[in-house]
Amino acid sequence: MSILLIGGSRRKDSLNSKVKHRIAEVADKFGISYKLLDADALDAPIYHGDFEDAEGVPESMQVLAREIQAASKVVLVSPEYNSSVSPLVKNAIDWVSRVKGDAWKDKKVLLGAASPGGLGGIRGLMHLRDILGNVQAWTAPNFAICPNANDQTIASMDENFLQGFLVQGD
Ligand code: FNR
Repeated sequence: MSILLIGGSRRKDSLNSKVKHRIAEVADKFGISYKLLDADALDAPIYHGDFEDAEGVPESMQVLAREIQAASKVVLVSPEYNSSVSPLVKNAIDWVSRVKGDAWKDKKVLLGAASPGGLGGIRGLMHLRDILGNVQAWTAPNFAICPNANDQTIASMDENFLQGFLVQGD
């Protein structure tokens, strides 16, 4: 089993995606196995009960649920929008919670964020932790946050800190 690394922004030059890759770089260095998942894998129609009744859970969300189930833990690096969770991420969590098998239950989830702002997206992660608690995931105490994010600050995220971040829950 390996760690599933997910970015929470589909933007081409996403800072959160860059942090995800920085974490992958550190995982490589410390021999930690992982699988990178593109944020496009989170794409699905906004949850709607009538849609679910008519068409069931979208295939993309069933695939995502299987990826989560197969992972030893999930690293989710997600942007903060208006002090909270990105709609892409929230919607994917909601849909996955509708897939039989409780993919989130007892799953170890490690959270990260990047933002050009000075708080680095930590307020969104506090909300994300609450939401994941509701679906019975285990969330790690330490976040991987990159405030004032740009290519340089992301590249200089401390590798020893990130190694410690990655082994949480082992
Ligand atoms: C933002 N951004 C932002 N940043 C932050 O630190 N706190 C916030 O509350 C918000 N709110 C917010 C709302 C909306 C609607 C947008 C579009 C943006 C800025 C955000 O962190 C920035 O655009 C990041 O670059 C988005 O992440 P990616 O796409 O670079 O990964």
